[in-house]
Amino acid sequence: MKKFNLVAVSGSLRKASYNTALLHSIIELGRDRFDVSIQSIELPLFNDDLIDPDEPEDVVAFKRAVSEADGFLVVTPEYNHSIPGVLKNAIDWLSLEPGSPLGGKPVMIAGASPGILGTARCQIHLRQVFATNRANVLPGNEIFITQCKEKIDGEGLKDEKSIRQIEKVLFEYYNWIEFWKRNEKS
Ligand SMILES: Cc1cc2nc3c(=O)[nH]c(=O)nc-3n(C[C@H](O)[C@H](O)[C@H](O)COP(=O)(O)O)c2cc1C
Repeated sequence: MKKFNLVAVSGSLRKASYNTALLHSIIELGRDRFDVSIQSIELPLFNDDLIDPDEPEDVVAFKRAVSEADGFLVVTPEYNHSIPGVLKNAIDWLSLEPGSPLGGKPVMIAGASPGILGTARCQIHLRQVFATNRANVLPGNEIFITQCKEKIDGEGLKDEKSIRQIEKVLFEYYNWIEFWKRNEKS
């Protein structure tokens, strides 16, 4: 099977982040279908003035990586019922027209939280932001890891039901990328 290349980011900078652990588990579960490069989102605060004459090198590298990838995988916590600032900042760097690296990009989203909604509110906001940038978020992409302290430990995701759901979404994500590649060619 042909593998697709993904760029992945974690919306948490915390060393012991549940979301970064979840990201590693997703990479492991998708290893037969995807090669994944995790990119840092510790980027400068977005400022239009930084674009001219030269963008910061780490921003240029991040934009290039996303632009060249077959898909963009985001695994993130929810902060204050929305997108963590560090992740929103990274997406803002990706968003400028013309030629946004997100335009037409197949996107998969996942998140973990200790609460009972598993980042659902953040994911709704992310969908709005990605729609604004004409990215193609996978329909039916529902990975909300609730009560994550009981499901994720130092070795990753342990919850069988969540693992099965992620396997299903990864299968659909692979087909989603193929669908958009066929569309590009026709
Ligand atoms: C500033 C801040 C705001 C938060 N807001 C929410 C929230 O709105 N919903 C939620 O489920 N958890 C919220 N939390 C709790 C996080 O889900 C929890 O800290 C989680 O472990 C963060 O993800 P991480 O382990 O990947 O860093 C918040 C945490 C912080 C630090």
